[in-house]
Amino acid sequence: MLPHMMVALTLMSLTCGETPAVQVILTNKGLQYGKDACAAWIQDRLELITFPDISGDIQISIFGSIDYTLTGTTITKCDFPDPSVEFYEDYTGFKTSISGLSVAVTGEIMAQWGIIKYSGSFNMAILGVDVTSVLELGKDADGRLSVTSVSCDARIEDVDIQLNGGFRPAVKIFSSEHCRIFTLFTPQICPTVKDSIVNLEYHLQAMNVSFDVNQDITVDLPLTNLSFISASSLNLGLKGEFYSTKMHTEPPFEPQPFMVPEQTGYMLSLGFSEFTLNSASFGYYSAGLLQLLVNDSMIPSLSPVRLNTSSMGSFIPQLPKMYPGLLMDLQVYARDIPLFSFRPGVVELDLQGAIKAFAIQSNGTHIPLFKLNADSKLSGKVWIADGRLKGSMGMNNFTLTLAASDVGPFKRDNDRLGKGIYLPRLKHAELVNTVLEVDTVSFNERHHINVSVWPAEENGIMWIKCVFLPNRAL
Ligand SMILES: *[C@@H]1O[C@H](CO)[C@@H](O)[C@H](O)[C@H]1NC(C)=O
Ligand SMILES: *[C@@H]1O[C@H](CO)[C@@H](O)[C@H](O)[C@H]1NC(C)=O
Ligand SMILES: *[C@@H]1O[C@H](CO)[C@@H](O)[C@H](O)[C@H]1NC(C)=O
Ligand SMILES: *[C@@H]1O[C@H](CO)[C@@H](O)[C@H](O)[C@H]1NC(C)=O
Ligand SMILES: *[C@@H]1O[C@H](CO)[C@@H](O)[C@H](O)[C@H]1NC(C)=O
Ligand SMILES: *[C@@H]1O[C@H](CO)[C@@H](O)[C@H](O)[C@H]1NC(C)=O
Ligand SMILES: *[C@@H]1O[C@H](CO)[C@@H](O)[C@H](O)[C@H]1NC(C)=O
Repeated sequence: MLPHMMVALTLMSLTCGETPAVQVILTNKGLQYGKDACAAWIQDRLELITFPDISGDIQISIFGSIDYTLTGTTITKCDFPDPSVEFYEDYTGFKTSISGLSVAVTGEIMAQWGIIKYSGSFNMAILGVDVTSVLELGKDADGRLSVTSVSCDARIEDVDIQLNGGFRPAVKIFSSEHCRIFTLFTPQICPTVKDSIVNLEYHLQAMNVSFDVNQDITVDLPLTNLSFISASSLNLGLKGEFYSTKMHTEPPFEPQPFMVPEQTGYMLSLGFSEFTLNSASFGYYSAGLLQLLVNDSMIPSLSPVRLNTSSMGSFIPQLPKMYPGLLMDLQVYARDIPLFSFRPGVVELDLQGAIKAFAIQSNGTHIPLFKLNADSKLSGKVWIADGRLKGSMGMNNFTLTLAASDVGPFKRDNDRLGKGIYLPRLKHAELVNTVLEVDTVSFNERHHINVSVWPAEENGIMWIKCVFLPNRAL
């Protein structure tokens, strides 16, 4: 009993108690943009639709029934009024409706009533179609977004059918039956709407919630929360955690709850906490990727300082005396997880590194010489330009301390050593090259995306806001 309860509690805490590290806020403006893009997409494709053959029968009172088959039905004209979509708080979803849709179709008809057969072409106008549908958003156990149809209502005002050619009496009967044909169409609308929602759900279920950023790191983006924060904005909480692809271990820190303030005028706001960047940092660190072996052949040939005991003698005089004429190498690594912190206006990075120096004997044996701790604080700003997240970083503080020495004490000189060591100074370079990259998403060629990165007014978060603008506004 107890193990079962433990499992249930663990699962509950995993699925319910997760604090999102990334939050996306969709505003009504963003929803309307999405609707316009969808409506344009549907309209472009409507006239290309070809219907499958439709067969059925129409019961005509005591005279039996007419069997019919419609083939080669295509849309000739479509009056597609602007649909409406709004947030629907009762179900954490949307209410969509379209009113006054009219479609003209043409095709071939074959019909049989007793011994009377009819075949010819038909033109049909389906007029005044109103459809209202309510969709509920949710998340499945794996954190994928799901949609379900809550309700659907459909109404057709009128159907006009015109048959060309064939046997006159049949034409007459068919034409007089148009009221019945219209009742045949109405019940088909909602199942079609529901089928397309099921189809959408099928595509959502096929989506991944975890993506490999490169061979070393994977990002997990399942939904954690889904709720309205007001009547006009929907908040999606995402886990937003990076993992080492090799070892899926949890970092020794947790995401902190935060609020992304609603920004009027923006379609989408994206806020992420420092947890996201730090989980990437932990992923690299725990997989042992934050280390580098530097040897003499990696030092640019123009450098006057070489990685050998005689060259290093200008910093550590006893070195060439103890180990004359030997090449050296340096093992540079992070002593701890490099941690990012977001402060208003700036991103700070705390790097605690170490450098272990070895002399290499001719038979390959490495002799440990000394170990230096190199601690640095970097700070920078980030912004978005050309559809990429960019940043500039500067070093605030760099401290070298001698942690251990096998060659006796020596004076370390920050300035002199600093000149010999490559200092990371990423002016106008991409901040976290492959980890974070916001590419311009073009939904269609008529729009572009305006993205701004905001330094948060409170510590620990960063906001990115997007607005999609028509290109002509440029
Ligand atoms: C998301 O869920 C967590 C845990 O249940 C909760 O602390 C947090 O307030 C929720 N956030 C939103 C925006 O609903
Ligand atoms: C989901 O991930 C798997 C494995 O990483 C991949 O093969 C598949 O193509 C992905 N599916 C989508 C829709 O991206
Ligand atoms: C230095 O390191 C590189 C890469 O690890 C290696 O290819 C090269 O052979 C090394 N050179 C020496 C002199 O050890
Ligand atoms: C060590 O470096 C010096 C330059 O500082 C160079 O003249 C010398 O040949 C190098 N020694 C070895 C063993 O590579
Ligand atoms: C390498 O050479 C040094 C002396 O040149 C010697 O002390 C050491 O034992 C040797 N190591 C190996 C593994 O042969
Ligand atoms: C630089 O870091 C050292 C050690 O962490 C600290 O003692 C010193 O105050 C720092 N200097 C500045 C200017 O922040
Ligand atoms: C879009 O970005 C440009 C340049 O950054 C800015 O001048 C403009 O005000 C932005 N438009 C909106 C609606 O935010």
